[in-house]
Amino acid sequence: YKVTWDMESAEKEGYEHFTLKEIHEQPKGVKETFTRRLDKNSNIVLDGITITAEDLKNINKIYIVACGTAYHAGLVGRRAFETLAKIPVECDVASEFRYRDPFIDEHTLFIAVSQSGETLDTLQSLREAKRKGARVLSIVNVVGSSVSRESDDIFYTWAGPEIGVASTKAFTTQLTAFYLIALHFAKLSGSMNDERIKEVVDELKMMPEMIQSILDQSEKIQKLAARQFNNEKVFFMGRGLDADLALEGSLKLKEISYINSFSIAAGELKHGTIALIEDNTFVVALATQDKLYEKMVSNIKEVKARGAHVFAIAKAGKTVIEKSADEVFYIPETLDLLTPILAVIPLQMLAYYISSIRGNDVDKPRNLAKSVTVE
Ligand code: G6P
Repeated sequence: YKVTWDMESAEKEGYEHFTLKEIHEQPKGVKETFTRRLDKNSNIVLDGITITAEDLKNINKIYIVACGTAYHAGLVGRRAFETLAKIPVECDVASEFRYRDPFIDEHTLFIAVSQSGETLDTLQSLREAKRKGARVLSIVNVVGSSVSRESDDIFYTWAGPEIGVASTKAFTTQLTAFYLIALHFAKLSGSMNDERIKEVVDELKMMPEMIQSILDQSEKIQKLAARQFNNEKVFFMGRGLDADLALEGSLKLKEISYINSFSIAAGELKHGTIALIEDNTFVVALATQDKLYEKMVSNIKEVKARGAHVFAIAKAGKTVIEKSADEVFYIPETLDLLTPILAVIPLQMLAYYISSIRGNDVDKPRNLAKSVTVE
């Protein structure tokens, strides 16, 4: 009797790699993450977070601290808190934060974001913040992990086990967590009325379906990857939330494809990076933010004039961009604040397919570990 399959291929459920399987699990992960936090009237109920309206009045600053992809989720989280809950927020990578001298006292809320809950720099930053009197809230995927055990308040993401070293479904569930927490704080502080909160929640409920509609177009990204897998360098650019997401798109690509990838806040192009644009340089331009759309179109024209090949991501219906970009991928129309949850999907798929075409070990890229528990 010969066993023709092993445990690992069984766990991959027909997908060639865990990374691809996990990319496709995002509609489910996002849905699980919010449905468990909404009551039957769609009110947000966060069991693990006991911060009261009174506590929140006492908080005058939030620090979001994390590493890698979790840090990028934190950057989006920062904008969610600023926009919805009107609280000043700083976001930093843990390996910097812990050696800074940040001003922290009992009026500080420290938010740690970590898929594994075991990243040493994140854990040490949390301990330092706690020692200085901060209240600690964590957004964690692994139940019972060190970060969650040492926190006052916990939000567990429901991504399920993430095996691929490059984080995908943890990211979109972390974004979901941030939106819910920011809305919860907005309700506690009164910065938003119930009707506006409901509008955002209703839109959030559309995300799983919208993510699925993007996944259903994976062939387009596969074809793009087949044309662009051989580049020596790739640029990701965007403004506002898209500048944050450009960082994640660039990280995903370099992690698993080993291509030299850079990200830039598009407004900074002419302060240096534009010097690197040559004939056929591949540029991924994120243009999902309504109020920054025209500015992005100008930035695309700037790089096009230097010979770049531009792949743009925009919201459905915003077609003006077709005149300047070489190719456009449309994500469904939604609130500007929520676009990262959608726009990251084509970026993950692009990194995945390029890595796979290059014959790399997609799930276990060289030199990288799933969780970094050393200094
Ligand atoms: C490592 C992983 C990344 C991850 C980062 C933070 O670098 O390769 O994918 O984003 O650690 O991990 P954490 O478990 O704290 O989210």
